Amino acid sequence: MEIKKVGVIGCGLMGSGIAQVCAEAGYDVVVREVKQKFLDKGLGNIGKILSRNVEKGKIREDRKNEILEKIKGTILLDDLKESDIIIEAAVEDLKVKQELFSTLHKLCRKDTIFASNTSSLCITDIASTSRADRFLGLHFFNPVPVMKLVEVVRTIATSDDTFNRAFNFAKSIGKVPIATKDNSGFIVNLLLLPYLLDAIRALEAGVGSVEDIDNGMKLGCGHPMGPFTLLDFVGIDTTYYIAEIMFKEYREKRYAPPPLLKRMVSMGYFGRKSGKGFYDYTKGDLPVVNIK
Ligand code: 3HC
Repeated sequence: MEIKKVGVIGCGLMGSGIAQVCAEAGYDVVVREVKQKFLDKGLGNIGKILSRNVEKGKIREDRKNEILEKIKGTILLDDLKESDIIIEAAVEDLKVKQELFSTLHKLCRKDTIFASNTSSLCITDIASTSRADRFLGLHFFNPVPVMKLVEVVRTIATSDDTFNRAFNFAKSIGKVPIATKDNSGFIVNLLLLPYLLDAIRALEAGVGSVEDIDNGMKLGCGHPMGPFTLLDFVGIDTTYYIAEIMFKEYREKRYAPPPLLKRMVSMGYFGRKSGKGFYDYTKGDLPVVNIK
């Protein structure tokens, strides 16, 4: 069965990006949020990104409208029932995801593929309450319209047909898929998290300042962002949450959230989204160091 209609759950940072790239590739997209105000915000963000692309001369106004017309917003799960594939990018809460998919399992056709964009939860745990053989992970990266990678996560129950269809689907939306098995963190976060946490430990140990460690990795290793800029970009709370899950899974020190990360979460320093993280984004155009 050919994939034509894509359902996306969640219209936050990841969900809106996923909806956008699917619509750009020509798919009919239905994106569902829990509240109208979240939906309006997410759809508004897609509109802004596309308008910026028009201003830059990357696309024409009619192309922007064509893409937006492909995306239908809803607050009803029922509106996803015709989807050929459903990509969930809801909150990182196992219970919420299990409940969503067990409801969708009853609503959708038998051949609809279920995918989760979780970055740290076990796909197997999410899949266990619905159609495990037609279930897998599709892990996108932030910002979704820019980052080329999608991790295609296969559990011990994912069928070959489901895996191949999802892998080809990822290609069809202009991404580069890589195959990974369902271990916590998959490939990228398995390697990225210890690196980010080590940067915090280096700061705690006084090895270097936020700016010097960032410049070290940017200018010495060619990374587009230093670890603290990336931590603020991903979200301090999100990183803490992922580290907790990975530490619980592997019981290895390298995944343990350092005390400073925990203190920043308590203080509401969630990174860019809250205005303050390792940098302060509220004091003019350029960020200034917030953690000394
Ligand atoms: N949405 C859409 N497009 C965006 C964007 C966004 N949020 N942010 C930047 N862009 C576009 C810009 O419009 C620009 O497009 P153009 O080249 O056509 O003009 C292009 O990206 C480059 O942007 P800028 O010139 O403004 O800035 P940079 O060159 O510094 O690039 C960046 C920004 C792409 C975010 C780059 O800094 C980068 O690659 N950073 C690393 C991001 C990263 O590592 N992401 C993965 C995080 S881990 C993750 O997501 C997994 C999760 O599980 C934790």
